[in-house]
Amino acid sequence: MFKINENYLKLPGSYLFSTIAKKVAAYQEANPDKRIIRLGIGDVTLPIAPAIVEAIHKAADEMGHAETFHGYAPDLGYAFLRETIAEKDYKAWGCPIDADEIFVSDGAKSDSGNIQEIFSQDSRIALCDPVYPVYLDSNVMAGRTGEYDAATGRWSNVIYMPCTAENHFVPELPKERPDLIYLCVPNNPTGTALTRDQLKAWVDYANQEGCVILYDAAYEAYISEEDVPHSIFEIPGARTCAIEFRSFSKKAGFTGVRLGFTVVPKDLKCGDVMLHSLWARRHGTKFNGAPYIEQRAGMAVYSEEGNRQVMEQVAYYKRNARTIYDGLKEAGYTVFGGINSPYVWLKTGDMTSWDFFDYLLENASVVGTPGSGFGPSGEGYFRLTGFGTYENTVEAVERIKRLK
Ligand code: MLT
Repeated sequence: MFKINENYLKLPGSYLFSTIAKKVAAYQEANPDKRIIRLGIGDVTLPIAPAIVEAIHKAADEMGHAETFHGYAPDLGYAFLRETIAEKDYKAWGCPIDADEIFVSDGAKSDSGNIQEIFSQDSRIALCDPVYPVYLDSNVMAGRTGEYDAATGRWSNVIYMPCTAENHFVPELPKERPDLIYLCVPNNPTGTALTRDQLKAWVDYANQEGCVILYDAAYEAYISEEDVPHSIFEIPGARTCAIEFRSFSKKAGFTGVRLGFTVVPKDLKCGDVMLHSLWARRHGTKFNGAPYIEQRAGMAVYSEEGNRQVMEQVAYYKRNARTIYDGLKEAGYTVFGGINSPYVWLKTGDMTSWDFFDYLLENASVVGTPGSGFGPSGEGYFRLTGFGTYENTVEAVERIKRLK
């Protein structure tokens, strides 16, 4: 009889957002008259900006003519996009990153889930707690996390770095040495960020201890504060210890288009081996390149018009986040985030995170995400996203206020 990867059986329950979707569908079926407002999964609601739609049409037309047709894309991405990213997302911010260190992909979720494959099976991982569940789950699937303790919600072989109101959501350097450190800045779900000095402490630590920082900057476009870096490569020393993931999903509304990229600097080495070579080998073997049409759509994000339009969308979602933040604060909730992020993180008072989820769904028909779904230290917290429409956001806040 064939055997399966038994690590999958260790995963408790289904993926967080699938569990929520099932619960919401059951509620809607039982209450067909209720108009549910979904501020759970961070999925965008605004349509793709006009300059990008135009680029998509143009690229689709090119695909229809023999002279301009494109087959397989280069597996690391088209030079036009990689060069533009290097210029506008890195060199313009003083980051020493070259185009051939950029790997274009179908998004940060796949890259941040797949990156663990290039590291040794016995690598020790350190995670902020709470954090985006993909980092943990992909390591569970790989068999790296030890045993799960349902009572504590913790895995025996994972180093948890709690990020709570008590430490202002700033992770402390771990006492035991990890091999891989996942940092998500601005953080999903807490909506909080690290300053340059705080991030420098991590870069120095990683270089000193021989760790790799897996840095997820998917929410970079939402940074408002001067002192929060847009890339880990703004920090001196990061080229020898960091890999960065970026996404077009939250910046340009590409959740349904799918485009992202990963930066692996050539100075990042294990002995003589460049991680860049390993990731290139993996990418070439398991990925056929992001589609031409999508890479042209990505290019349009960097045009003057495209950039103006997507930043207007980011501003729209930030206004939503601010509306949630201010409204809930006024209603007496303790709230965090929402400044450098589309996410607002709140305390659930004397309810557990899942009890608060049910309470909000049943009494206000508003969907959010229970903090405990992002890690044990998320218990007692709840996440609402600014990605709804403005009208729905205002109404959701009003409904929640009325419950008080
Ligand atoms: C979230 O809601 O945390 C994100 O939308 C999930 C994702 O980006 O995959």
